[in-house]
Amino acid sequence: MAIPQCRYVGHDPTAIRARHSPIAIPAATRIKSSITVYRTAAARVVSSPGARRGRLNKGTALYPGSFDPPHNGHLDLIQRGSKIFEELVVAILRNSEKSPMFSVAERSDMLRTLTADMPNVRIDTFEGLMVEYAKSIDVTCVLRGIRALSDYEYEFQMALMNRKLEPTLETVFMMPADKYSYVSSRLVREVAQAGGPVKGLVPEIVEQKLREKLDPAYKLGDAQIIEVPRRRKKKA
Ligand code: PNS
Repeated sequence: MAIPQCRYVGHDPTAIRARHSPIAIPAATRIKSSITVYRTAAARVVSSPGARRGRLNKGTALYPGSFDPPHNGHLDLIQRGSKIFEELVVAILRNSEKSPMFSVAERSDMLRTLTADMPNVRIDTFEGLMVEYAKSIDVTCVLRGIRALSDYEYEFQMALMNRKLEPTLETVFMMPADKYSYVSSRLVREVAQAGGPVKGLVPEIVEQKLREKLDPAYKLGDAQIIEVPRRRKKKA
């Protein structure tokens, strides 16, 4: 039986399983000529506020990355992820082979400040295989962002390799707001290092940290430079 193009309403796992079983689909409501919304009985009984807003009943998700530095696209994804997962662990890779611009401690501090108003977001660090870390914190879902088609190949490869390493770990992709679709940590570093403006690409605290990192004189902030008058040499 051919299943028409459809959109799902309801977040109960039973409802999602029903999609794959034509027998389990009881009724269809046609809301547009091309879109049909299926509701199973299981989907209708889901009534918790989280489920209604779209929260997955899957607990914790892991958002791993380098975050060197965190940019607005990362933050956008963290905000989106925190709305659909009960808890989101944002984990920074500790990679001794790379020489990052910001230390792991600096990146952790920035991310903690940026997510201070998101009570279900936790910042952590990890090293070694991501799947091993995911297992160690009992997470079965990994969140990654896809900005453009160019990200797809890398993300696809990584997701499938991670699945090979740990078949129970699912990767969920989300898209950041399109205004951040060209923003990456590498480009932010490049622009900042060349003295270009990164306003609007990174949160203000990251902008400030970049300035401090690249020009330590910025650490003085608004401090005034006071000229100390030179002493006149006494005549001999
Ligand atoms: O922000 P990034 O640099 O795109 O994040 C990449 C990251 C950290 C998620 C990825 O490199 C990773 O998971 N590294 C840990 C080592 C690992 O598990 N490698 C196998 C993944 S295919």
